[in-house]
Amino acid sequence: MPITKLPFTPMIFQPNAGRDINSFTKIEKEILKLKKDRDAIILSHNYQIEPIQHVADFVGDSLGLSYKAAETDAEVILFCGVHFMAETAKIVNPGKRVILPDLEAGCSLSDSCSADKLKAYKEKNPHLYVVAYINCSAEVKAQSDVICTSGNAINIVNKIPKDREILFVPDQNLGQWVANKTGRSMRLWPGSCYIHVLFTLRTLESIKERFPDAPIVAHPECTTMVRDMADEVCSTEKMVSFCREQAADTIIVVTEMGMLHRLQREVPEKTFVAGPTDRCACNECRYMKMNSIEKLRDSLLSLEPQIEMDEKTRKAAYKPIKRMLDWS
Ligand code: 13P
Ligand code: SF4
Repeated sequence: MPITKLPFTPMIFQPNAGRDINSFTKIEKEILKLKKDRDAIILSHNYQIEPIQHVADFVGDSLGLSYKAAETDAEVILFCGVHFMAETAKIVNPGKRVILPDLEAGCSLSDSCSADKLKAYKEKNPHLYVVAYINCSAEVKAQSDVICTSGNAINIVNKIPKDREILFVPDQNLGQWVANKTGRSMRLWPGSCYIHVLFTLRTLESIKERFPDAPIVAHPECTTMVRDMADEVCSTEKMVSFCREQAADTIIVVTEMGMLHRLQREVPEKTFVAGPTDRCACNECRYMKMNSIEKLRDSLLSLEPQIEMDEKTRKAAYKPIKRMLDWS
C-alpha cells in the first residue's frame, strides 16, 4: 500500500540527457565574448539556472566560490548566486569590481539574523564564541569569530577551543547537524532556509516508495527528520562526489533543484530524482532564480550592479572569513 501518493509526476533527470558542453545559444555566445572583453570571471553557485552554469568559469558551493573569488586575477567578478555570496567575494578581493546580476537576490537565512539583533544578543552574552554560517550579511560576519560553510562547518567547530561556549548563527538546522556531528552543544539562532524546510518525512517517504533502491542525499539545511532519513547529508559540492561514488544508478537529491543540472553534467551516467515537497515535484529558491541569462548579459555590458561596502565593515568581516579559509 502506498504511504502517500505524490500529487504530481516526479522530476527525473535522465542519464546522458544533458546539453552538449560545446553548444551555446546566441545570448550565451554573446556572454562568452563580453566576458573576454571585460576581463571577467563568471562564478556560479550550484543552484543557478542551467544556462548560467553552462557559461560559468566555475560552478560550485559557497566554500569553493569563496576560494575562487579570493584567488582570481580577473578584473571583474560576475557573481551568479545570492547577495551574501557576492558580498563575500568583495570582502576577500576588494580591489575587484564584483557584480551581481540582481541585487535583490537575498536569502531567508541571511534575513533571519540582523546585525542589530546579534549585537544586542552578544552584549547580553559577551562570553559566546560566534560561528556564523556564510549565509549572513557582511555586518553579521563583522561581529563573528569565525565563518563556516556547509562544506567545512564540522571541521571549523572542531577547531574551536573546548572551553568556549558557541553561538551558531543563523541556521538552526545546520547548527543542530554540526552539534550532533561534533558533540559540541551550541546555542542556535532560530533561522532557517525557507526552501529546505519544505522537504518533509512524508514527501521523502513517498518518493522513496517510487524509487526504493535509490539512496537519498540531503543538504544539512533540511530538518532533523529529513536528515535522519537520508543516506548522506552534505554540502552541494560533496553531493557530486557522493553521487559519483554510489553503486546505485538512481539517486534522490534533496536540495534546490539547480543542483540537478550540475549533477547531470558531472555524473552523466546516473539518473537523478528531485526531492519533492507537498507543493511541487522539485524545490526552487526564488532568490537564486532572480538571476536570468539576460540580466547576466546586461550586467556584463554595463558592469553594474556592483557590490559596495564601507571599508570598516569589510575589514571586520574579512577577519572571520580569513580564519575560516586558514582553518579549512
Ligand atoms: P552550499 O554551500 O552547500 O552550496 O549551500 C549554500 C546554500 O545556500 C544552501 O541553501
Ligand atoms: Fe538562502 Fe535557502 Fe536560497 Fe540557500 S536556498 S540562498 S539558504 S534561501
